[in-house]
This record gives sequence, structure tokens and C-alpha cells, in this order.
Amino acid sequence: SDEPIVLGIETSCDETGVGIVRGHTMLANTIASSMDEHARFGGVVPEVASRAHLEAMSPTVEGALAAAGLRLSDIDAVAVTAGPGLAGALLVGVAAAKAYAMGLGVPLYGVNHLAAHVAVDQLEHGPLPKPAIALLVSGGHSSLLLVPDVARDVVSLGSTVDDAAGEAFDKVARVLGLPFPGGPYIDRAAKEGSGAAIGFPRGKYDDGTLDFSFSGLKTAVARWVEAREAAGEPVPVPDVAASFQEAVVDVLTRKALQACARYGVDDLLIGGGVAANSRLRALAQERCDAAGVRLRVPRPGLCTDNGAMVAALGADLVAAGVEPSTLEIPADSSLPI
Ligand code: KG4
Ligand code: ZN
Repeated sequence: SDEPIVLGIETSCDETGVGIVRGHTMLANTIASSMDEHARFGGVVPEVASRAHLEAMSPTVEGALAAAGLRLSDIDAVAVTAGPGLAGALLVGVAAAKAYAMGLGVPLYGVNHLAAHVAVDQLEHGPLPKPAIALLVSGGHSSLLLVPDVARDVVSLGSTVDDAAGEAFDKVARVLGLPFPGGPYIDRAAKEGSGAAIGFPRGKYDDGTLDFSFSGLKTAVARWVEAREAAGEPVPVPDVAASFQEAVVDVLTRKALQACARYGVDDLLIGGGVAANSRLRALAQERCDAAGVRLRVPRPGLCTDNGAMVAALGADLVAAGVEPSTLEIPADSSLPI
């Protein structure tokens, strides 16, 4: 194949991700996570993440090359997450990507993390329909995007005004005494409970925007649990988890389908760590079927932060003939889409 081989580097949060693609064929997706080091703090500690990236960077690149059966000299382009994300963490990836690109004499592409979450789906499900709507939900972001062309044109339609969806899962899990990160534990606990047991508030449900708000919900759950404990009654963890989860995924899927209807788009993509949520997947499928919208959700390993997503977007940029970045490109913690 004469498609370019692209190395992708992702360090926006706690995952050191290195991926290698040839066109939209994934050759490697190697990840080193520092989550174990953050778990005892109940959240990602930026300084700890930056140091972990520094230590993991070169072994993870070596690991990805070995997994792909390639040498560094086989790489035709380097792509890296330039933002948004943790400033110090981004800086490690951007500095490494510059060094690899300069050393190899190949083009460098600084990419947007959210666009990369969209582009990754092509590694599993083939070319993206144009246009598509994307719902990105993780510990760091909750965004609705209109994607006419992932390489050149991605438009933000709405985002959270307070907590990210995954952040709300993690905070509610903490209230319920579940480990961090709590999303998967809430998902599991909810299977034993009823989503209709407690009527928790759905922020911005009918406000006509495509924005989200989860902090009122998080507070309502905390108040509900405190009241139970104050009354000396047991907390029904499965029902609280299921009812909280139902409130989140009800709003997420409602707004995603509203975005599809408003822009006349029949293809919805869901990505980010929260896309692993079993109830989100089920309700999204149900509502997409009812609306005649096709749903694409990458497998969980591609939904969470990884290097292959950055490489996939890099391959799109090469194919679209987009001008590479200069070696002066900064890491930008609040890089707009
Ligand atoms: O994309 P990701 O790995 O990292 C970033 O935050 O960028 O997403 C992690 C988030 C965490 O908040 C985690 O609790 C949440 O995704 N998560 C889930 C599930 N699996 C992971 N939330 C709900 N249900 C899940 N099954
Ligand atoms: Zn992410």
C-alpha cells in the first residue's frame, strides 16, 4: 500500500497513547496509563500525569513500533494532540512529536483532541458519513459537534456549562462509596436497580440549546443520599446509580437526537469514555431507531483516550492535503475546535 504510515501521540490527560495507522488501517495502539497513581487522590493530578508521560513516552513509542513490526524510519508523518487538555501533559506529547518529526524529517500535525475522538471511528467502521453529528462524552468533555469533514470542518454545537458527563459519574460514584473512576462501577451497580426509582433533575432538558449541565444533578444525588443517611436509613445504591445514570443518558441522547433533527443529519457518532456506558448505548440505539438515524459507536478501547485516534486524524489531514504544523506549534490547553 502507498498510503502514508502515521504515528499518533496522545498525552492530554492520564493516558500516554501511541498509535500507528496506514491510511485507516490500525497497525498499533499502545497505551500506558497513570490512572493507578491518581486513583488514591480521587482525580487526575496534573503534575503526576506530566511526569508519568515523560517516563512512558519513549517506551510506548518503542512498544507501538514493535507491535506494528515497524522501525521509526518507516514513519511518514507524526500527529499529536495539541489540545485541549492538561497543559503540562500536552506539552510532553507535543515536545516528543516535534523531536520525532524533526529527527525523521517528516511532517508534523498538531490536532484537536475532540476531532481525533471523531476520526477514530473510521478505523473500525470505515469512512465517516458527511456530515455526521458527534456526541463526545468523557471525564474531560461533553460536547455535541457537527462534522461536515473531520479533516477540515468541525463545528461545536454545544458543550457542558459545568461538569463533564464522566466527571458527574465519578463524583456520584464517590458519594456512593464506589472506587475511582466511578463510571464503570455505576454502570454495573445500575444493572441491579431501577432507573425510574428516583426522579433526579435533568439539567437544561427543555432549554432549546444543545448545551449540557450536570452539576445540579450531581448535587441532587448528594442531597438525596445525605438525607437518607441523616435519617439512619440504608442507601439503595443500585437504585440511586440507575436513576442518576438514567437522568444523564436521557439528556445526552435527547440533545444528540435534537442536533440530528435540527441539522438534518442521519448519522450519529458517540465517543469518549462514557460511550462505554451500557445504558447510554441502549437508549441511544432505541432513540436512533425511532428517528431513522444510524448510530456508530467505536469499541470501548477506541472510545477512551488513545494514540490511534490521533494517528487516524493525522492520516485524514495528510489525505486532505492540509498544510502541516510548524515546529513552533504550541500545546494549547483550551484549544478551540
Ligand atoms: O475518555 P476517557 O477515558 O478519559 C477522559 O476523560 O478523557 O473517559 C473517562 C471517563 C471517566 O469519567 C469514567 O468514569 C467514564 O469515562 N466511564 C464511564 C464508563 N466507563 C468509563 N462512565 C459511565 N459508564 C461507563 N461504563
Ligand atoms: Zn478524550
